[in-house]
Amino acid sequence: MAKKYVFPENFLWGGATAANQLEGATLADGKGWTTADTAKYEADPKLRMQQMIAPMTTAKVKDALVDKNGLYPKRYGIDFYHHYKDDIKLFAEMGFKTFRLSISWARILPNGDDQTPNEAGLQFYENVIDELLKYNIEPLVTLSHYEFPLALSFKQNGWESRKTIAAFEHYATILFKRFKGKVKYWISFNEMNIVMMTGYLSGGLLDDKKQTKTSLQANYLAMHHQLVAAARVTKKLHEIDPQAQMGSMILRLENYPATSKPADVLASLQSDQENFLMMDVLARGSYPSYAQRLFDQKNVAVDLTTEDIKILRENTCDFVAFSYYMSGIAGGQEDDDEVAGNSSLSKANPYLEKSEWGWQIDPVGLRITLNKMAERYQKPIFIVENGLGAHDKLTSDNEVHDSYRISYLKRHIEQIGEALKDGVDVIGYTPWGCIDLISASGNEMSKRYGFIYVDQDDQGHGSLKRYKKDSFSWYQHVIETNGREL
Ligand code: BG6
Repeated sequence: MAKKYVFPENFLWGGATAANQLEGATLADGKGWTTADTAKYEADPKLRMQQMIAPMTTAKVKDALVDKNGLYPKRYGIDFYHHYKDDIKLFAEMGFKTFRLSISWARILPNGDDQTPNEAGLQFYENVIDELLKYNIEPLVTLSHYEFPLALSFKQNGWESRKTIAAFEHYATILFKRFKGKVKYWISFNEMNIVMMTGYLSGGLLDDKKQTKTSLQANYLAMHHQLVAAARVTKKLHEIDPQAQMGSMILRLENYPATSKPADVLASLQSDQENFLMMDVLARGSYPSYAQRLFDQKNVAVDLTTEDIKILRENTCDFVAFSYYMSGIAGGQEDDDEVAGNSSLSKANPYLEKSEWGWQIDPVGLRITLNKMAERYQKPIFIVENGLGAHDKLTSDNEVHDSYRISYLKRHIEQIGEALKDGVDVIGYTPWGCIDLISASGNEMSKRYGFIYVDQDDQGHGSLKRYKKDSFSWYQHVIETNGREL
């Protein structure tokens, strides 16, 4: 007989999305351009792979804005902007207790630092939030999810500039005041640790003349500025809406030692330190003891001020959040086999199967991560992304038989159940892309994660009609039985 798991009564089952991957309507109602609008679809899978973290130059971005031939799928998404009522109705039918969305900064402040907000942008999000509340679905709102107002990229190179902290605080304050009492759960930055690897996701553009050099120093400055900004907006949120909670989020990668060789075990420990660095700062209130050596090795420095130290110390996050898709390997030999990953290439683990995109599937790794984070932070934990990207087929009678997705999610939920038995305080689970949307890394539609199929192909052709996949009724039953029947 299948094991029964006991999930807390108020466990937040739901699904997760991001504005730039589903809203579309990119310049509607006064929105400004964002970095995501310049992400081009490449038909060649080799070019597509990991292009999200490739450096962008000012010239490339300017070209994209006037390019008449290229395809820029994040500009049209799945047109949630005009379908949100029907989509939320489907989420409610599945029994969602929460829905993770992000707000596009440039819909609220088209230039990123305008004094007065764009009322039409605020109204759109208020309509979405009210629609969720109508069905008792708690909105879980990310302030910044992989897009940045382009005007601020040109003006001050994104998060590399300390001035961006004040602009972000202004943007967040507008939202906290408007949605006070309506939004209880906030997340400052999506997968914030990725900023150490890519300037582009933090709005940084390379100077055209220096485009061969990626500036690690600029990325670490951006990292520090985001940390200070996250602490500042936590302070603001607590002042404006004391009932609301601010979460910090990282992309979590469990990297196992390649062998039991001490050097490989050390490599695994160091990989954890790098992966947890930003969470350590925001959950514990200061840079961890290992940070200086890490900065020295990378030859970077951050502009930490006395005021930053105080703000970080006094404004730690309320809950910790992470995305989890796969595990990897640390250490090993240079010529070990490699597989694709959601942030970089990883060494292959012979004990794990892979998704169609090469991501290593490891449900037990989720339990390991949950236990590690519980011990490290002693705060409630929210799993805000997890899921399987796959090629789904719509049958002639409009069905999608995605048993592979059900199997992936079931095995991960079982491990959450095990972690709960281990005593970990997990408060919610929002699988990624609960409705099919544009993939972040490849700008493609055919990498689908949803319980709901959206009729649109990689070229943006299709009726945009929504169809329930087999996983839809399966997840509905999981929520109905509060995880007792998987
Ligand atoms: C996470 C991001 O890294 O992974 C999401 O927060 C993203 O935005 C998700 O969509 C899955 O990645 P991809 O590239 O398959 O869409």
